[in-house]
Amino acid sequence: MPKPDLKLVRPLEAAPAIRLENFQAWFGETCVVNAGALEVPAHKITCLVGPSGSGKSTLLRSLNRINDDISAYAMQGKIFVQGQCNHAGFKDITHLRSKVGMVFQRPCVFPCSIKENVLFGVRDKTLSKIDRAALVEDCLKSAALWKEVSHRLDSPASTLSLGQQQRLCIARTLAVKPDILLLDEPTASVDPVSARALETVIQDLKTRFTIIMVTHDIRQTKRIADHVVFLCDGEIIETGSCGHMFSKIAKPKTRTYLSEEFCDC
Ligand SMILES: Nc1ncnc2c1ncn2[C@@H]1O[C@H](COP(=O)(O)OP(=O)(O)OP(=O)(O)O)[C@@H](O)[C@H]1O
Ligand SMILES: [Mg+2]
Repeated sequence: MPKPDLKLVRPLEAAPAIRLENFQAWFGETCVVNAGALEVPAHKITCLVGPSGSGKSTLLRSLNRINDDISAYAMQGKIFVQGQCNHAGFKDITHLRSKVGMVFQRPCVFPCSIKENVLFGVRDKTLSKIDRAALVEDCLKSAALWKEVSHRLDSPASTLSLGQQQRLCIARTLAVKPDILLLDEPTASVDPVSARALETVIQDLKTRFTIIMVTHDIRQTKRIADHVVFLCDGEIIETGSCGHMFSKIAKPKTRTYLSEEFCDC
């Protein structure tokens, strides 16, 4: 019997969802992120951690080009989203942002109903009323908000609690069907119970999305991250699996920051 070709049966290494090459971000004359190379694995939760001012949000916001609106901002190097350059590889910025959605630290709901908030970014005019209702339900269920709001979809979104508003923002981002979700401290402005509820939502979403999340909460990182990137003073000090980053073999600077939340970089 012929020997099987082992090369064919070996599982393929999944392509990274995001890849950075020689990436630097500048505000005016100051280089605030000098990340070099970085790969973010697909369908995992990657947490960006580091002290305040270390460049976490700038790096995150560079991925879907939100920083482009700031006149002092400039970047060098390349960012690839699913293998495509995030400048030349997309038709326009709307196309990029339909693939790479973002949720901010403070929930930002629009002055309209819960239902209209979910559908806010949906551009497909061919969707029937039934399809739209199904999309609203699906996104609210994915964001673990459906049970709380299904009876009041036409109420103003502003009547929701902060934790509910943040889940609504997640539902609104999901409605445009992105592949990658950027979350900048999504649990920072909500109470601990809502924060735990959001963590569960985020963990459930990783089967369908790649999640890149900035957090200051080291315990949260340990609970939910698959992969951790530790930034300090704009440099990536170390990156690796959560197990590695919280182990004794991580770099001394990483160990100090992750165990004492203090950094002497
Ligand atoms: N619009 C801007 N203009 C000039 N400098 C900026 C601007 N936005 C951020 N910076 C600077 O870039 C550096 C990185 O900021 P960034 O917001 O990315 O840090 P961070 O790690 O997200 O901090 P935090 O944890 O406090 O949110 C900081 O020194 C900050 O002051
Ligand atoms: Mg920040």
